Amino acid sequence: MGAARGFGVDIGGSGIKGCVVDLDAGVLVGDRVRIPTPVPSTPEAVAEVVAEIVERFEWAGPVGVTLPAVVKRGVAHSAANIHKSWIGTDAAALFAKRLGRPDGEVVVLNDADAAGIAEIRYGRPDDQEGVVVLLTFGTGIGSALFLDGRLVPNTEFGHLEIDGHDAETRAAASVKEEKDLSWDEWARRVTRYISGLENLIWPDLVIAGGGVSKKADKWLPLLDVRTRVVAAQLRNDAGIVGAAVAARQVTGG
Ligand code: BGC
Repeated sequence: MGAARGFGVDIGGSGIKGCVVDLDAGVLVGDRVRIPTPVPSTPEAVAEVVAEIVERFEWAGPVGVTLPAVVKRGVAHSAANIHKSWIGTDAAALFAKRLGRPDGEVVVLNDADAAGIAEIRYGRPDDQEGVVVLLTFGTGIGSALFLDGRLVPNTEFGHLEIDGHDAETRAAASVKEEKDLSWDEWARRVTRYISGLENLIWPDLVIAGGGVSKKADKWLPLLDVRTRVVAAQLRNDAGIVGAAVAARQVTGG
């Protein structure tokens, strides 16, 4: 018998990515499909792309989908880097309908929570004790909080107010690009941000994720914070993997 499989779709501000996932190893099976996020990124337009991706793989089982938003019982309650009309949308029902699935076969969760689920399970299985927080540095800053390996969903630590600013507008990876900051300049901002966070929740471990974790050697050593900070192991595909895990858990497969 082959490995247990699932399917995950990761919706981001610039791309929507999906793939079959090997749930035993926590890796993608074959190549993922990536389609640019439609502009405007309305629920209907995004649902079309999600359906196109799932259909390309001819996947018939449960599907996990991430959104860069607070998601409670399938309903989006915020929309920081996607179209505002997501707020109040029952995303799980919308995707299930578009995919022709019964309710409950599509599970929707916050993107950073999904990345954290994957990272904790496959990347750091021996590092789960206590309070662990994964931060994803990308267009915005996402967060996933765990206590002894159990997720506390929908933390929005990227929006902590630091020095009078929404933190992600100062310390996201996109800000480094836009303002052409050196690693040193950006690391100072990230230090300020993590210091603010650690004074509030006193984590035992911070895991730094998002695309910029690929270059962890350039900036992790520059951070000056109390907590141990390590680079995520799973990198870009963590959202897809975590979404597939969540779908499997919720549908009881
Ligand atoms: C959103 C979060 C999301 C993060 C990363 C933030 O702006 O508020 O929900 O997890 O970006 O995409």
